[in-house]
Amino acid sequence: MEAIILVGGLGTRLRPLTKTIPKPLLPLVNIPMVERMIRNLPEKIDTVILAVSYGLEQMLEYFKKTNVGRKVIIVPEKEPLGTGGAMKNCEKYITGTTAVFNGDVVTSINLDEMIEYHKSKKAKGTLALWEVENPNRFGVVKLVKGEILKFQEKPPKGEELSNLINAGTYILEPEIISIIPENEKISIERDIYPKIVGNGLYGIPFEGYFIDAGTPESYLEANFKLLDINIESENNELKNKVHIHETSKVVDSIIGPNVIIGPDVFIEKSVISNTVILSDSKIYGSTINNSIIGPNISLNHDVENTIIAPEGEKIF
Ligand code: GTP
Repeated sequence: MEAIILVGGLGTRLRPLTKTIPKPLLPLVNIPMVERMIRNLPEKIDTVILAVSYGLEQMLEYFKKTNVGRKVIIVPEKEPLGTGGAMKNCEKYITGTTAVFNGDVVTSINLDEMIEYHKSKKAKGTLALWEVENPNRFGVVKLVKGEILKFQEKPPKGEELSNLINAGTYILEPEIISIIPENEKISIERDIYPKIVGNGLYGIPFEGYFIDAGTPESYLEANFKLLDINIESENNELKNKVHIHETSKVVDSIIGPNVIIGPDVFIEKSVISNTVILSDSKIYGSTINNSIIGPNISLNHDVENTIIAPEGEKIF
């Protein structure tokens, strides 16, 4: 079975970090987002198709040197084709029912269960749905006996058809991909799904967690969530929720809670909390909170709510 992972977005909300590292290669607890997603796929998915636009060179290089235990096909787009256009561009590699993922979501979806559900309904498409408290800045779906009957964009308060939003994970029959126009910029969410409601489009709500890691705040949140899960699964009461790469060194500092330190980092006389430090950075005499620093940054001043990357800084 094939999976398409959409990894071609510009990642503008995570700039300047994404000016040097495309979002799918940004680490989540020291493993690139896209590699983590591939490693978590069920065994029945033996081929992964990466729909790439921005960051193609780096993606090719990364997968040349990294074995993720599955066949990986990288499919480039000359121009970004949008989520639907990108799927269409991958059509020739698909042989049947296909799983499709937004490449920047961190979720507890059970894909095997989702595939079972899709088959039991004889659906053409099944969307994973996530319940939110305030759906007014999202798009919601009207779900009746598991079938999606309507999409509603940014519903006004009191008029919401439900609290269920699209979680960016789909099981699709090739028929759906076949109706996407070729070589056009198409959004699967806005241009295709609304047209096929009532005609075999299903939704399955899930519980647990759902984080779209595309903003500075949510990128940090996704890292901290995975830190929690690692700690639980290793049954390892890590003090202060800290993950330090084995090649890094920390001297005379207070680290935690929620700190992830990448490879070849050196930290001295600093106090760091709620922060991700990317590889090859040097931190001296700094108090850092709620920030993303690196790679390859030398820092010796205090920082809060800030991205500091090789191509610049941004307060968020
Ligand atoms: P922002 O620029 O910060 O909004 O991020 P983004 O460009 O990644 O956009 P967004 O988060 O809305 O995209 C959702 C998912 O679809 C991400 O995994 C993107 O990589 C992917 N995506 C968005 N547009 C395209 C595209 O034109 N081509 C491909 N291949 N993937 C896309």
